[in-house]
Amino acid sequence: MPVPRHVAIIMDGNGRWAQARGQPRTAGHKAGVKPVRSCIESCIRAGVGALTLFAFSSENWARPGDEVSSLMGLFVEALDAEVDDLHANGVRLRIIGDRSALSVRLQSRIAAVEARTAANTGLQLQIAVSYGGRWDILQATRQLAARCASGALRPADIDEGAFAGALALGDVPDPDLFIRTGGEKRISNFLLWNLAYTELYFTDVLWPDFDAEGFGAALDYFASRSRRFGQTAEQRKGSA
Ligand code: FPP
Repeated sequence: MPVPRHVAIIMDGNGRWAQARGQPRTAGHKAGVKPVRSCIESCIRAGVGALTLFAFSSENWARPGDEVSSLMGLFVEALDAEVDDLHANGVRLRIIGDRSALSVRLQSRIAAVEARTAANTGLQLQIAVSYGGRWDILQATRQLAARCASGALRPADIDEGAFAGALALGDVPDPDLFIRTGGEKRISNFLLWNLAYTELYFTDVLWPDFDAEGFGAALDYFASRSRRFGQTAEQRKGSA
């Protein structure tokens, strides 16, 4: 059975999950930590090489202040609570996104966790925080433009490979499988460049309820897809 090399997930539905229980939205975010752990375990078990989770978008800063600060607190807590286990399981953890917008406390936690797990060769785990696909394309463009301005790069040498390499996931293969929980069928400014040929899987299950079985159903969906990358099925058979 084909297994995706890289899975990217929009973890949606925490707020609705909590509201359905008469609880504050922040309770839904707290309940969202367990499925994060379960997805990481499922990826390790299934042999998925990379996992990227959308935890907080560039647009999420517009949420009520108490929800934003509760989420930021939750990220610090989760990093502290999980780092030993992640490291013991050979996971390399990196945060992608605009770090300058994060508190100094969170930035220093991130730097410490990244340094500790940097040499790990197991699951490559990326958590997108203060991330937007358009932000990513712009920061890559700025990097390449700066290199052109300094004479290190010629505009003619900016091809797909050079551009992809300047993106936040420059050293990770494009996602093979995208999962969005919570019922919406949108990309919501996630990995805009990287998702060009990704198989898209949407489920109504709210993120706090997304368990190993739900993840398994997404892997089954992926295995059932015929991926053609713009070619005909016959051409792909010939190149397989
Ligand atoms: C979307 O649900 C979820 C978020 C904006 C936060 C995601 C955060 C977690 C799952 C917490 C744990 C994460 C890590 C990395 C430890 P929503 O609030 O938009 O839900 P709604 O659509 O029902 O309102």
